[in-house]
Amino acid sequence: MDAPELEGIEVDVFVQALQKRHGYDFSQYAPASLKRRVRQLASQFQCKTISHLTERMLHEPELLPRVLEGLTVPASDMFRDPAVFRTLRENILPLLASYPHINIWQAGCAHGQEVYSLAILLEEAGLYERTQIFATDLSDRALQHASEGIYPVKDAQQWSRNYQASGGGQSLADYCSAGYNLIKLNQRLRRNVTFAMHNLATDGVFCEAHLILCRNVLIYFSNSLQDRALSLFRDSLVRSGFLCLGLRENLELASTARDFAPFIEPMRIYRVASHVETLSA
Ligand SMILES: C[S@@+](CC[C@H](N)C(=O)[O-])C[C@H]1O[C@@H](n2cnc3c(N)ncnc32)[C@H](O)[C@@H]1O
Repeated sequence: MDAPELEGIEVDVFVQALQKRHGYDFSQYAPASLKRRVRQLASQFQCKTISHLTERMLHEPELLPRVLEGLTVPASDMFRDPAVFRTLRENILPLLASYPHINIWQAGCAHGQEVYSLAILLEEAGLYERTQIFATDLSDRALQHASEGIYPVKDAQQWSRNYQASGGGQSLADYCSAGYNLIKLNQRLRRNVTFAMHNLATDGVFCEAHLILCRNVLIYFSNSLQDRALSLFRDSLVRSGFLCLGLRENLELASTARDFAPFIEPMRIYRVASHVETLSA
């Protein structure tokens, strides 16, 4: 047996051990990127082999948060892909404004940058008081970070440019305070945010949502896990509800594709299928 084959077996054993020991199911993540991340974890923990990493993960439960973080890549930015946020601001929020109460589910919220971006959009549209944002992630550690809303100041300049490009009419500095090389988002922005653990691989329908954002998460999943997540989204959306995916994600290969129709396809915004008119963005 050659080395890559052996490594494949070690990754399978690691994934099984993680599920049996801690209940986290990574068996349906896209294999190539999962393998790369397990390898990186082994090197981060100075393990010579993935089997050694498995042994440490089994016997040192305190490693779990770092293991999850390494496997799930909680990277994000405020107003990431500003054109998407501009579209939400100009095309989607005005449609949501017709509801007396708005629920938004942000699945895979990582460190919360998108949650605060969304809260700012809603505030500026005058909709925040009647909106509830449910921000979920698989990782406890990511959620903790998200609820604190503290980020390195070095990111602020780019985020400020993103905010302007999304159509922001003020200054991002109006929404945060700075000190000690950090910025802290104004905690008023999280007054209608509920942070909660939710695993798209194993948990059920989460809430009745008018808009679901799940960006740059499905890209890590196999087709069958993508289908599972998309079915959850379909079942969680109200009639005519919107789904916003990441720019590198689409429904092309999904068996649930027929349940959604493109609404503003270039921005990966879809609508539950029975109520669709496509806008050209
Ligand atoms: C690359 S980040 C995307 C963050 C943000 N949505 C964005 O686009 O900037 C992916 C996030 O998905 C989360 N994630 C991965 N697998 C998940 C699962 N099965 N259930 C819920 N969240 C998951 C990770 O913990 C991570 O925070």
